[in-house]
Amino acid sequence: MREPFRNEPFTDFTQSDAIAEFQAALRIVESQLGREYHLKIGSDYVETTTKRKSINPAEIKQTVGTVSQADTEHAHRAMLSAAAAFEQWKRVAPSARARVLYKAAAILRRRKHEFSAWLVYEAGKSWTEADGDTAEAIDFMEYYGREMERLSERQPLIPLSGEDNELVYIPLGVGIVIPPWNFPLAIMAGMTMASVVAGNTVVLKPASPTAVIAAKFVELLAEAGLPDGVVNYLPGAGGEIGDFLVEHSLTRFICFTGSREVGVRINERAAAAKGDQRWIKRVIAEMGGKDTIIVAEDADLDLAAEAITASAFGYSGQKCSACSRAVVEESVYEALLEKVVERTQALVMGNPAELSTMVGPVIDERAYMNILKYISIGKSEGTLVLGGGKGSSSGYFIEPTIIRDVMPYAQIAQEEIFGPVLAFIKAANFDAALDIANNTEYGLTGAVISRDRARLEQAREQFHVGNLYFNRKCTGALVGVHPFGGFNMSGTDSKAGGRDYLLLLTQAKVVSERF
Ligand code: NAD
Ligand code: ALA
Repeated sequence: MREPFRNEPFTDFTQSDAIAEFQAALRIVESQLGREYHLKIGSDYVETTTKRKSINPAEIKQTVGTVSQADTEHAHRAMLSAAAAFEQWKRVAPSARARVLYKAAAILRRRKHEFSAWLVYEAGKSWTEADGDTAEAIDFMEYYGREMERLSERQPLIPLSGEDNELVYIPLGVGIVIPPWNFPLAIMAGMTMASVVAGNTVVLKPASPTAVIAAKFVELLAEAGLPDGVVNYLPGAGGEIGDFLVEHSLTRFICFTGSREVGVRINERAAAAKGDQRWIKRVIAEMGGKDTIIVAEDADLDLAAEAITASAFGYSGQKCSACSRAVVEESVYEALLEKVVERTQALVMGNPAELSTMVGPVIDERAYMNILKYISIGKSEGTLVLGGGKGSSSGYFIEPTIIRDVMPYAQIAQEEIFGPVLAFIKAANFDAALDIANNTEYGLTGAVISRDRARLEQAREQFHVGNLYFNRKCTGALVGVHPFGGFNMSGTDSKAGGRDYLLLLTQAKVVSERF
């Protein structure tokens, strides 16, 4: 009898035991930095001539690992390997497939701090952000395992006398899994293992800045007993092998999380059927966000300030769910701004390997330059009230930044910045605040801080986002509790960590036997 699903608890870093264990994990991982990682195609580890260094964004002189880079020839081999493995894996019983996920989750739980330490070094996550990422990866595996077992039970159909009818969910085939770098363990593992538990095989193309953490996870899958070829690890430049994989005639589906730009490109390319292609490719794309917290005039302003600060600056604002716009009713605008500034000033920026660090670096030079560009635009679109500068030159540090009096259609109010930049926008009243909240092309997360039932009910109906929160932050969705995914240009309306997700990775077959 399987225990019911429960979310993995977060580590309590006020406890001295937890602190000591995490520090020990950091030391162990630090001693392993700089190793080489190769492609894994079937059972073969393939070293390539082109290599890419993955670096610590907080200490850019530190190499986390050196990763072989695939070209299109390797990509083709990986596709053939996944296609061959599919012929066996699709016949493995759903419960047996689920057991691989439970085993992988158990191993990850035992090595939780070690994996979190890799996230500290490679993704620049603080201890708590890294711990949350690892916990979510465990949750995805425990959750999707149970979901597959549920789906494999016969769906109750309307009985027809003299016939035996059944509906079964069968896998799709070979999928391409393309994760982002910002939840390099949770989202990568979630998309990969949801595909796998549904009976598919995949080519996993990790995000380049965080390819080492994906390699560690692929090692763990072998330990958990996943047969070779079910997950093929194919690091490489998205621009070089991405289109090739998406367009490959053996590709049956693409499971993507990343930017709007790349998501739309994938969708377009996947739609064009090649001559020898026997299906319409399915695209599951989870994309960007421009997320708003609305603060009503009746709100608890301390709660609002806490929610905004945590949502805007957690992981330096590098979450699709991050609050990048605070839309505030006029009468409380000044008072709230003061409270948010005060809380933001108290955030400790530094090397995420230190427990005290709350805000670490941004991921790489490209992001660093892009965010600084938006800050400069923001200074002309509003008034800088906090931050705006660079932090320590040892890494890609940018101060948490607040820009006030931004107009609703300003560039920094519309475009995803993906960094620690918060625009404060004034709204004449609650109706106007809702209009502003809905005025971007995205629709991922949002929050309303209000004590007024009528306002909350109005927002429930009118605030058009996939994940809407009341009187709390707009980040930190929990698997199973807050199935996650957005509307409009935030994606294809999927819900990761929800009951509907595996349906996207399967197809339903009905067999009717007349007796
Ligand atoms: P990105 O779009 O730059 O890259 C995502 C992945 O796509 C990477 O693995 C990259 O190598 C790959 N890629 C690049 N070009 C490709 C191509 N032509 N074909 C195929 N793959 C290609 O995004 P990112 O910078 O890694 O991540 C940040 C973005 O992800 C933000 O926009 C963020 O909002 C979004 N995101 C969304 C969610 C969500 O659930 N909606 C969650 C996390 C991140
Ligand atoms: N699922 C992540 C969150 O909710 C992105 O913050």
